[in-house]
Amino acid sequence: MPADRPGLVFRSDYLGDTNAWQALADLLGDTFGIDITTLDRLGGPDPTSVAFAWFDANGTCIANISAFSLPLVINGTFVRAAGLQSGAVRPSHRGQGLFRDVMEAALDHCDAEGFEAVALLTDKPDLYTRHGFRTLAQHRFSGVAPTGGRAEAVRRLAIGNEADMALLSRLLDGRRPVSDRFAPLRQREMFLFNASLMPDLRLDLMEEHDAVIAWRAGEDGSLDLLDIVGARLPRLADIVASLPVSPFRVTVHFAPDHLEWDGEAFPDGGDMALMLRSTRDLRPERPFALSPMAEF
Ligand SMILES: CC(C)(COP(=O)(O)OP(=O)(O)OC[C@H]1O[C@@H](n2cnc3c(N)ncnc32)[C@H](O)[C@@H]1OP(=O)(O)O)[C@@H](O)C(=O)NCCC(=O)NCCS
Repeated sequence: MPADRPGLVFRSDYLGDTNAWQALADLLGDTFGIDITTLDRLGGPDPTSVAFAWFDANGTCIANISAFSLPLVINGTFVRAAGLQSGAVRPSHRGQGLFRDVMEAALDHCDAEGFEAVALLTDKPDLYTRHGFRTLAQHRFSGVAPTGGRAEAVRRLAIGNEADMALLSRLLDGRRPVSDRFAPLRQREMFLFNASLMPDLRLDLMEEHDAVIAWRAGEDGSLDLLDIVGARLPRLADIVASLPVSPFRVTVHFAPDHLEWDGEAFPDGGDMALMLRSTRDLRPERPFALSPMAEF
């Protein structure tokens, strides 16, 4: 709990309070131009989320960061990790240490809960190195599309169709991590939220595998493979044979160690850094990426 600040009230664990949830949505809408109330019709925010925030006397959310459980597989080993997201301070109150307050409260919470690692994504890595976070370099994997796969029936799913959402939620809850190098074990809410923000995303169910392929058409007729959700992961050759496209090249946005295909690893050129703070060295030993569907 940070020291008192005149005119402000510190609150944590307030996400169940409808007015406070709306106040956080307003802060994030004003800061990042995103509408997190979309989550309300996608099953609600991650139930493991705990928010740390300063409010003013009118109930306006002035500063916030939220922590949530983000179990990971790194180098084939289970890691009990937390994620941090929704970090923002209103422009009127910046430069006064409010972000430091909420960060310290969130990290104290993560330490007290026994999380062995904390992850975040940011375009301002300098803001977090002082708290012990280090950047993990990410890669993309690109190469010639494999041939000779077995085609199976696919069905397009629609975000917004209730039955499709139920099916997707079931698969998200029981999924195999998409890579052993680095992948979340469970990341239902952010997958659905990200999917709702990506108009060119295709979600195709490979019916025999009972696995959903998250993909989009890349440049020059190539295939961008973003994620695979299922307890059994199909080989890339079978995915390519099944989807309604005939790509020459494939770019995979996670490490392809389960795909029976080797793409060349290219450093990710994006402006968001994935950062990790951990009690022991948990760097992935081989090139990897966090699937765009799991970004938070
Ligand atoms: C970035 C942001 C959260 C900082 O909030 P703030 O309340 O002004 O930060 P604080 O006053 O608590 O500063 C904490 C420390 O971070 C430093 N800092 C502030 N903004 C920074 C930035 N953009 N880059 C690097 N360091 C920064 C401060 O100098 C201070 O350093 P100190 O602890 O050595 O004194 C705020 O400017 C903001 O909401 N920006 C837009 C949204 C955003 O970028 N969110 C974070 C992205 S993940």
